[in-house]
Amino acid sequence: MADIDTAALKDNFAAVAAHGGDGVALYFYSYLFLKYPETRDMFPPSMTRQRDRLVGALVRIVTNVDKVGELVPYLEDLGRDHRKFGAVAAHYPAVGEALLATLAHFSGDDWTSELQENWTAAYGVVSGAMSGAAERVAQDEPAWWDADIINVDRRTFDIAVLKVRTNTVHPYAAGQSFSVEPSTLRPREWRLYTPANAPGGREIELHVRLIDGGPVSTALVRSAAAGDKLRLGPPFGRMKLTQDSDSPLLMIAGSTGWAPMKAMIEQVARDGGRRTHLYFGARSIREIYDRKVLEELSDRYPWLTVVIAVSDDIRWDGPRGMVGDIAAEGEWAGHDVFVCGSPAMVEATIKRLISSGVPEQRIKFEEFGEA
Ligand SMILES: Cc1cc2nc3c(=O)[nH]c(=O)nc-3n(C[C@H](O)[C@H](O)[C@H](O)COP(=O)(O)OP(=O)(O)OC[C@H]3O[C@@H](n4cnc5c(N)ncnc54)[C@H](O)[C@@H]3O)c2cc1C
Ligand code: HEM
Repeated sequence: MADIDTAALKDNFAAVAAHGGDGVALYFYSYLFLKYPETRDMFPPSMTRQRDRLVGALVRIVTNVDKVGELVPYLEDLGRDHRKFGAVAAHYPAVGEALLATLAHFSGDDWTSELQENWTAAYGVVSGAMSGAAERVAQDEPAWWDADIINVDRRTFDIAVLKVRTNTVHPYAAGQSFSVEPSTLRPREWRLYTPANAPGGREIELHVRLIDGGPVSTALVRSAAAGDKLRLGPPFGRMKLTQDSDSPLLMIAGSTGWAPMKAMIEQVARDGGRRTHLYFGARSIREIYDRKVLEELSDRYPWLTVVIAVSDDIRWDGPRGMVGDIAAEGEWAGHDVFVCGSPAMVEATIKRLISSGVPEQRIKFEEFGEA
């Protein structure tokens, strides 16, 4: 966007955040809910902790509008995903108005007509991409998929494997994620999770790790039971197998980052098999929560090699250390590489792979932090 001054937008927001602190999100939501009360029910019942998921993300995206070419596929997915909140085209101007009112309020005398025009233009580009994509899929795709939990298998005190059944088949590809709302336990709280089985059926397996103090993971690991209702958003993420590639695969997973790898291994098996090295990393033996399946798959498929690395458990007599470091000791030229785990694990692993000669463009990854 040659004519939008994104540097001015970033500077303006930095000043607003410095003056406003936590008040910025509070002002934004108060404005939105008072002027457009119909939007209140889209948000979680309790906003008291101001764990704001929208304002920060909104500003980060809008101030990067100069990279709109790279952002468009993401914005289209985001717009499609926003249908699950009940967001329709008419809500976009309302959110834009609340954003500008907030910025103007906290900018005080620094607010200028140029800033107003720049923010309006940038927001218009981003919201246009989102609402346009949402409208294009509206005829063919539901806003969400209803599902029931059919089994909860608590493997460790902080990891559960859930089986859920959808009413209709969900269109994810192996390796992709979707957001989940535990409608019975935590209405209107949505977080991303990643199916651990290949798509096509109505049963989906999810691997959930409890994050201390996190509402959704705590509900799914501690309280969920058969019969609880879920809603699932549309598929998200570019961690997918390239159909026209027969390059060997390297998969590196930390903890529940194993879920997308398992889905992709099942998909590869359906497609006839492909040379695959899987590295699974855990901190302790206890955390190898899906060991039976890892061993069964490695026995069943001659094209699959499984290495389990444990970082902090002296009882482990296999490879010891960080999974990315151990994997990076191999020779991976010509491989398609997938990395998934915590943000720290993913960052460290990608750094190691690149410094050991793996081209960056061959690496696809997903971080299981906040979206
Ligand atoms: C594409 C994608 C796919 C995902 N797939 C899975 C999956 O298959 N299984 C799974 O268990 N999780 C997965 N996640 C993470 C999941 O979406 C939630 O972020 C996680 O379950 C925490 O949700 P919560 O509501 O319990 O906590 P939140 O309210 O989201 O977070 C509570 C606090 O913990 C921090 N936090 C959030 N995540 C982490 C983390 N990983 N490590 C340390 N601190 C963190 C937050 O910053 C916040 O301060 C995925 C995330 C993404 C982006
Ligand atoms: C340019 C416009 C917008 C952008 C860039 C944007 C971006 C985002 C992002 C990145 C998130 C966090 C990820 C997620 O939870 O899915 C989010 C959450 C959300 N957005 Fe938007 N959004 C926009 C407009 C809207 C509109 C018009 C509505 C409807 C009123 C809306 C409603 C929500 C809701 C309800 C949440 C969840 C908030 C929570 O869980 O606390 N958004 N948005």
